[in-house]
Parts: sequence; C-alpha cells; structure tokens
Amino acid sequence: MKTLVTYMTQTGNTKKIADAIYGEIAGEKDIKAIGEISNLEGYDLVFVGFPVMQFNIPEKVSNFVKENVAGKNIAFFMTHAVPEGFEAIQSWTGSCKDIAEGGNFLGTFDCQGELAQPVVDRLLKADDPQMKAFGEMGPSTKGQPDESRIQKAKEFAKEIQAKVQ
Ligand SMILES: Cc1cc2nc3c(=O)[nH]c(=O)nc-3n(C[C@H](O)[C@H](O)[C@H](O)COP(=O)(O)O)c2cc1C
Repeated sequence: MKTLVTYMTQTGNTKKIADAIYGEIAGEKDIKAIGEISNLEGYDLVFVGFPVMQFNIPEKVSNFVKENVAGKNIAFFMTHAVPEGFEAIQSWTGSCKDIAEGGNFLGTFDCQGELAQPVVDRLLKADDPQMKAFGEMGPSTKGQPDESRIQKAKEFAKEIQAKVQ
C-alpha cells in the first residue's frame, strides 16, 4: 500500500499536522505540497490538508480533489483559527465530504492553528467584519497546533490507516 500526504500551508501550521500524520504511516509513503503533484496516480490512500480560508476550503485544494478523487481512499486534515468545536467546522467537514464524492471518504481531522502576526495585522485592516473578527482572535490561537493536537493528529492517522488495511 502506498500513501500520500499532501497539504497546502501558508504559515506552517498545516505542515506540522502533515508531518505528524506522515510520521505515523506504515509502508510506502510520500509527503508533498499540493503544488508539487499533478495527480494521485499510484496512491492507495491520500491525506489532504489545508488551512481554512474565508470560511472555506481553499479553491486550489477543492479543485484538485474534485479532479483527482475518483476511486481513491481519501482523508482530510485542516487547521483553523477558530477554537475546536466552533459550529462552522461541521460545514467545513461537510464540504470535505462533498468534494470527495466519487472517492472513498474516510474522515476529517481539524485543529486550531496560530494566526501569524502578519496575518493578524492584515485581517485587522480588512473591510469584511468577519475577517476583522478573526484578526481579533489572534492572541487566543498562540502556540497552536500544540503537542496535544499533534498527538491527536497521529491517532487520526492510525485510525484512517486501519480503515484501509
Ligand atoms: C486570508 C485568511 C483567511 C482565513 N480565514 C479563516 C476562516 O475563515 N476561519 C478560520 O477559522 N481561520 C481562518 N484563517 C486562519 C487559518 O486557517 C489558520 O491560521 C491556519 O492554521 C493557517 O494554516 P497554515 O499555517 O498552514 O497556513 C484564515 C487565515 C487567512 C490568512
């Protein structure tokens, strides 16, 4: 069995989760930024990670998944500024399921990721009040994903692998 962990990241949070998942995977495996791959050929299991942006999956990620998911075992991981349990996370999870239609959707992991200071500064200046509100969330996201989240991501990786073995 060959597994791919692919991710998008701007400030490194999602990459931390990608590395944790990758470290737990048994068998043949690759880890690549989403921009480095053109399709999913040759992989039996794929983990796709992204930062939530503007209350959504970044288009680059959703387009890639929709175009390549047919017949693939696929799981998702995402980082976001809102705290875990925030209501909108359910809709992001639902969107993951939607874009994976045609593939075998195995599950989603999510955790909080720190808002980098330049991002906070930018968001605070945004016209959109929702984006401004994210900027104000900055201090409460410091240090995420922390070690406990990394551990949870590792457990997620094991659970997903167990589903395809
Ligand atoms: C332009 C922009 C929009 C964002 N929109 C959201 C959002 O809608 N909801 C949310 O929870 N976090 C939002 N975030 C925060 C990121 O999802 C979060 O900091 C994430 O961990 C960044 O991951 P990365 O370091 O892998 O890029 C946004 C960040 C940026 C820069």
